Amino acid sequence: MPGCVELFGYGTPLYVNYVYPFKVDPPRVMGEPPTDWTFFADRNPTSSYRSWVDVPKDWTKQRVYLHVGAAGSCLKVWVNGQCIGYSEDSRLAAEFDISAALHPGKNLIALQVLRVSDGSYLEDQDIWRLSGIFRDVFLFTRPNVHLWDVAVESDLDGALRHAAVKLRCQIRNDDNAPAETISVRLTLRDPNGKKVSGFEIDWPLTNALAAGTEMEFLSAPKIINAPQKWSFENPALYTAVIELLQDGKTIEAVAMRIGFRKVELKDKEFTLNGHAVKIRGVNRHDWNPVTGYVVDEATMRADICMMKQANFNAVRTSHYPNDPRFVELCDEIGLMVLSETDLETHGLSYHKCVLPGDLADWQPACVERIRRLVIRERNHPSVVMWSLGNEAGYGTVFDAMAAEARWLDSEHRPLHYADMNAPCDVDSSTYPTPKWLELHVQGKAVRVGEHGEKEMFRQHGNYPSGKPYLMNEFAWAGGNGVGNYQDYWDVIERNPMIIGGFIWDWADKGLAASMVGGKTVPMLSVNPRPAKSGFYAVGGDFGDKPNDGNFVLTGLIDSDRTPKPEYFEVAKVNQPIRIFAVDLAHEKIRIENHQTFAGLENFVASWEWSDNGTVVAKGNFPSLRCAAGESCEVIVPQTPPFSGGERFLTVRFALAKKTLWADAGFVVAWDQLALNDATNLAAPELKPGQLMIAQTDEAVIIGNTSFSVCVGKQSGMIESLRYGGRELLTRPFRLCFWRPPTTNDRGWKMPDILGAWRDAGEKVSASSVTATKNSYGTVSVSADIKTSVAPSHAAVKYEIDSAGKIIVRTTVATSPLGVSAPTNEIPRVGMQCGLISALHSIEWLGLGPDETYLDRKNAARFGSFHAEALTWNHNYQPPQETGHRSEVRRVALTSPDGEGLVVRAVTASFGFNLWPWTAEDLEATAKPQLLKPRDFLTLTIDSAQMGLGGVQGWGARPLDKYLLSADKTYQFAFALEPLKVKREQSP
Ligand code: GAL
Repeated sequence: MPGCVELFGYGTPLYVNYVYPFKVDPPRVMGEPPTDWTFFADRNPTSSYRSWVDVPKDWTKQRVYLHVGAAGSCLKVWVNGQCIGYSEDSRLAAEFDISAALHPGKNLIALQVLRVSDGSYLEDQDIWRLSGIFRDVFLFTRPNVHLWDVAVESDLDGALRHAAVKLRCQIRNDDNAPAETISVRLTLRDPNGKKVSGFEIDWPLTNALAAGTEMEFLSAPKIINAPQKWSFENPALYTAVIELLQDGKTIEAVAMRIGFRKVELKDKEFTLNGHAVKIRGVNRHDWNPVTGYVVDEATMRADICMMKQANFNAVRTSHYPNDPRFVELCDEIGLMVLSETDLETHGLSYHKCVLPGDLADWQPACVERIRRLVIRERNHPSVVMWSLGNEAGYGTVFDAMAAEARWLDSEHRPLHYADMNAPCDVDSSTYPTPKWLELHVQGKAVRVGEHGEKEMFRQHGNYPSGKPYLMNEFAWAGGNGVGNYQDYWDVIERNPMIIGGFIWDWADKGLAASMVGGKTVPMLSVNPRPAKSGFYAVGGDFGDKPNDGNFVLTGLIDSDRTPKPEYFEVAKVNQPIRIFAVDLAHEKIRIENHQTFAGLENFVASWEWSDNGTVVAKGNFPSLRCAAGESCEVIVPQTPPFSGGERFLTVRFALAKKTLWADAGFVVAWDQLALNDATNLAAPELKPGQLMIAQTDEAVIIGNTSFSVCVGKQSGMIESLRYGGRELLTRPFRLCFWRPPTTNDRGWKMPDILGAWRDAGEKVSASSVTATKNSYGTVSVSADIKTSVAPSHAAVKYEIDSAGKIIVRTTVATSPLGVSAPTNEIPRVGMQCGLISALHSIEWLGLGPDETYLDRKNAARFGSFHAEALTWNHNYQPPQETGHRSEVRRVALTSPDGEGLVVRAVTASFGFNLWPWTAEDLEATAKPQLLKPRDFLTLTIDSAQMGLGGVQGWGARPLDKYLLSADKTYQFAFALEPLKVKREQSP
């Protein structure tokens, strides 16, 4: 303990999205499910825990409590054979007063946890279904007269300057005599630990507190003058110390950290301390890939720091109260929290009024769930909004929950719940498109559920509602996705009433596992732990049924917390400082500070000029003064002489000092500005000279003593390329219209809908391949090619010089898949070939360093980069399209001897991939651990590739503007040339 029992080898870990894994028959869970389901044989695995504890004698004079941090699905407690109590709601602590059952000396504490119970109907979240005791268990004592609950309520005045503080306090007398001369005291310490002088609340009880009773009091407000305010940018925390005194002597004291800040919805905007703030949020499951629901502090800290580094300002605790330490760390490090009640009944009720719906029987359990959450977290400044739950339908139960939260929270934090906006303060829904958002602002959107479910009046009331709007989930991050994130933010920033959103979601939630005797077993139960052979299991890997396979992999970062390229895109689009050109020819730029409260003093700003990818001058700006929300114009202090080519200015803002979430020097924001947008991509010059043309039945071969290139007569494509006697190709060039489907592609059934394009480049026939000598000493080869996707065809023209340089110019006229085809799209247009594995060293001039796609390239800058073919592709789970680099001017693929192949842009830049696998491998291999590198490389040179998509992963295509029409003529050109030992200069 704490531990998820299934991960120690007891029972089967099971991952399912929303289908209840047991027989649905509320409130019963013991009915007979289908015979092949995990729960058929293992109907309700039960864990029993026993522990002897030594109780010191003086404890028996006080109250002794058993604290169980979290247990699911339900918990029963015995002490010395006496049944003490029962609890449900598996993500909140349960505390039991066990004083009466204890005696000095050895005592037996016994706990029982059932895997499923009636409470499981309310916890149908899309996550691994595990059971056990997930958080710490301990005993603690309190004096017989003690604090039962305390809350420090504070409110900033109209000018948001001074705070009025009240102490709400419940005192309980569990003694058998009345408690006299009792008083309570509240003192405060400032963020530096210094006592706030002149601030103290003292409240003496005038009457004795009778035995067995409790009383609540709310003090009069006391003003604290101009306290430091809490925000996600400056999370100033005060420490409140609450003491219970008897006869002037402290008999109990508690300390907690509080913050002064004000959250309001004003003019349809979300405001913090009076300033409108956009919520740049992400959904997070409280999850550790090895220990499951048991999350250690290091993981929580690492998550929060990585979120801050990605310029998030908010997190939604989807879909239940997290480890209490998580919220404390958000207070401390500075992240706003949308705190969610543990209530989801998706399998029965999504967008329906079923369970809890209007059911009076289920209402107390649901109200209790939000009640305990609010009481636990109402003192936390980071918590800025409550959520009634996730995907649990609608009904009167939610009205009751909303009323309870309002009653308990003196701050009246805004309420949220996407399935039923009516009782809430903000409107919210999941996965709208940017276009939908625009329509919604105009009050013209049609609200539907994720699968087109019709919305009922009872859910959201009148439309438009006049409330601010929040996306509680958007920008679904499964696989290689999060295209169009900037498009979302363009709409959000243009429209005050769209207050932001939370990306779905933070991390892939694979479960660390290993193969033992041909079976997948959780890593935690493998003894001794294998050093390397681990992988991340998904639904079904443990033989679990029903399951939703890979759908648990929806994060911005991998299961092991390696950032996916998506993460960097999000960090860039979220950045709070932006740089624009005013007049770059005269070195004038504008810096916009989009922070909410802070100036730019905490940053070191630097500038860097680069010509054709090479840095030619750099330095720091003198310290910049620019208040939050303002912009300033500055001159870059120094400009080196310009010698032509492509010049860029890169400006970076790095942390001047170490913070709680990043080291000094960490780059929070940057932008790159192009001095000249006319890219000079003239065709490389050809060198006239001696060339031979040879014809066989199969091919036409052009070459001389230093090289030869062979164009197949059947394919019309380059089938052999020898430089200096070395064959570079392992597979011939072919036209390429396909990409290994991404998670999003599979979601919209791209492989079925557009499947005809998969091998369209392979199934071709050339109607003619002709070679002619040009008068200026080069050779041209022309090929006319028909593809199997009628009536698409291509004309490829090769121009070859005596140095082995080959300019390849292609015109592809593609056609839609026929009138009955539901789409008119094409995944990509380019060429692909196999290369000898020796060419593994990659140097390119273009966007980098990470992969880029049509709808996801904000995180890239123009530059000259180097990488290795075996390590530069992101290993997505499951395998899919990866590693594309776009807007490339030149790439050199070099073998260790320094020789190799250069691909150079002609007229327009190109995109490329270099995989140690084939496209088929990436498509057909179900799991990354099964994907083995080939003994050759696959090079794809793209003219265009459709975007990744970034709305959701079960049907949404890339936005229209990022699709490629199949009813179009594509023209592209590139040059191939040998790379000689004597390295040539970069262009
Ligand atoms: C949402 C749900 C999440 C998750 C997501 C799909 O509707 O709230 O828990 O299932 O869809 O990845």
